[in-house]
Amino acid sequence: MSKFVLRSATEQLCGVSHDEAHYLLNTQDQEKFFDRIGSEEGCRQLSQLFYDRVFADKGNPWFLQIFASSTKSEAVDNQYRFLVQLFGGPALYQQKKGKYTRLVGRHANYSVNLKAAQRWTEHMRLAIEDHTFLKHDEEAKDMLHKYFLYTAHYIVIASEYMRSDQLSGGTNVDTGRVW
Ligand code: HEM
Repeated sequence: MSKFVLRSATEQLCGVSHDEAHYLLNTQDQEKFFDRIGSEEGCRQLSQLFYDRVFADKGNPWFLQIFASSTKSEAVDNQYRFLVQLFGGPALYQQKKGKYTRLVGRHANYSVNLKAAQRWTEHMRLAIEDHTFLKHDEEAKDMLHKYFLYTAHYIVIASEYMRSDQLSGGTNVDTGRVW
């Protein structure tokens, strides 16, 4: 399955294209998104706001259950490092987890289906709304929401098509992976 087929299937599912989801991250002459979101502190805040919501989602035990093997502080730290790296800051995620992000493979141990992607995205949408650095930056908020909406659905779609050896889930450090 080529990445273009996966992208097209994702767009059909969530209504956001790959380019729309990534436009602020891809444009060379844009102010670095990392500065707009408030650098490390802003990434930490987004991750904390998001996981505060996730771990308080007692009304949806089926969703909360997906996070049962994680602690909130560890989940916040992983997501924080990922965001810093994604938005153009230092490679903090790589320092902790190894060279490859493997977003799809890492989620293979969890029940990530369409319903979970929608719940996840809703928590993130509300976290973005509460973010103090992005308060007046509607463009950045819109792009962030689209990025997470797209990526959550991409994880669902791509999981179906990955070879089993690519779906070694879990949050351990990777050693010697070539993809
Ligand atoms: C589709 C719905 C999703 C569900 C149900 C889900 C669930 C989970 C769970 C249970 C973990 C383990 C928590 C931990 O201990 O770190 C995790 C980790 C993680 N998730 Fe998700 N996730 C989803 C979507 C996403 C999206 C859209 C992103 C990023 C754009 C993302 C990024 C990450 C990262 C970076 C980690 C840490 C992985 C590691 O370092 O091992 N997730 N996710």
